[in-house]
Amino acid sequence: MADPAADPLAAQAEAVILVGGQGSRLRPLTLTTPKPMLPCAGVPFLTHQLLRLAETGIEHVVLATSYRAEVFAEHYGDGGELGLAIDYVTETEPLGTGGGIRNVADRLTGGPDTPVVILNGDVLSGHDLTAQLRMHREVDAAVTLHLVGVEDPRAFGCVPTEADGRVTAFLEKTPEPVTDQINAGCYIFRRDVLETIPTGRPVSVERETFPGLLAAGSRVQGYREDAYWLDVGTPAAFVRGSADLVRGVLRSPAVAAPGPALIAPDALVAEDAQVGDGSVIGPGCVISAGAVISGSVLFENVWVAAGAEVRSSVLGAGARVGERSALTDAVLGDQSLVGNDNELAAGARLWASAVLPDATIRFSPGA
Ligand code: GDD
Ligand code: MG
Repeated sequence: MADPAADPLAAQAEAVILVGGQGSRLRPLTLTTPKPMLPCAGVPFLTHQLLRLAETGIEHVVLATSYRAEVFAEHYGDGGELGLAIDYVTETEPLGTGGGIRNVADRLTGGPDTPVVILNGDVLSGHDLTAQLRMHREVDAAVTLHLVGVEDPRAFGCVPTEADGRVTAFLEKTPEPVTDQINAGCYIFRRDVLETIPTGRPVSVERETFPGLLAAGSRVQGYREDAYWLDVGTPAAFVRGSADLVRGVLRSPAVAAPGPALIAPDALVAEDAQVGDGSVIGPGCVISAGAVISGSVLFENVWVAAGAEVRSSVLGAGARVGERSALTDAVLGDQSLVGNDNELAAGARLWASAVLPDATIRFSPGA
């Protein structure tokens, strides 16, 4: 599936995707399904990242798994359907980001100066990976980090650079950011540099490896590109990412025809129901008369009763929403039930199979 126009440099590169995290901020949905495998714009989130790598011309991808490792191989197999060769490595104990990267080294097939692209498994990015690879080669960097500017860098890795892009410090989750530039979660290691990460113990690439390389005087390069960028770690960001893919705000090879909503062919949507703003209605869903679904992700077999409103929310498989209930920025676990005339908002999360009786909660922040 590699794009014929892809840079030959990409064909030499290999990729590792870090998919071992627990996805705790997306519980209860991540209790059964690891975060990268949650349905997003109609396919597992990870499929968007994998197809993007394939489109760039990368052929070999190693998934560094830990939490719920089996789910990945069951779904992707050898990767052939996506035009990739996918390998899986599982950590029995989570080794952290750096430990996870080091742990896959013996699956890489390239020589010592092969570029190895590492992706965080929860980031949507529209940046030009080929341009990042070119910069990595041009400056002969040990590591080249994709950097983006964000309003509040405190939840990320803050990365100041010189005018030529040379990284001067790596400050993970600092309360006192010195620049708006952050690590966007896509970095290229030279393979021999990756192999200097210690084995057999947890290592944070952000807190140990990057600061260590800088202290040793290695060339760590920043590639700044303010393209579309989103970390989908929170429910609110997850629904936004899905809606952006559905509407084509960020193009994905997995979304053939961007539009206002993605509705499974066998879903039943009442004629006067409103479904839009990038919503996804999964297979077997039923949306009743007068219901409103806006900017939300409904997994399979979700049932929304008459007059209910679902906005910016994620509804797990088999979840049910009663008549006139209103959900905004909420997460419903699989098979959970919200009875009639309830109001959930502001990050409310209902556990799998939980039942909220009729007229139990009315919560509108600021009302
Ligand atoms: N294999 C493996 N093993 N993967 C892991 C482990 C582990 O022990 N721990 C975390 N990961 C994976 C997660 O699944 C995720 O894909 C990635 O590593 C990053 O972990 P997060 O928990 O999402 O980190 P973060 O979002 O707080 O911060 C990271 O990403 C930011 C950009 O979104 C850092 O890299 C920041 O520097 C960066 O700015
Ligand atoms: Mg993250």
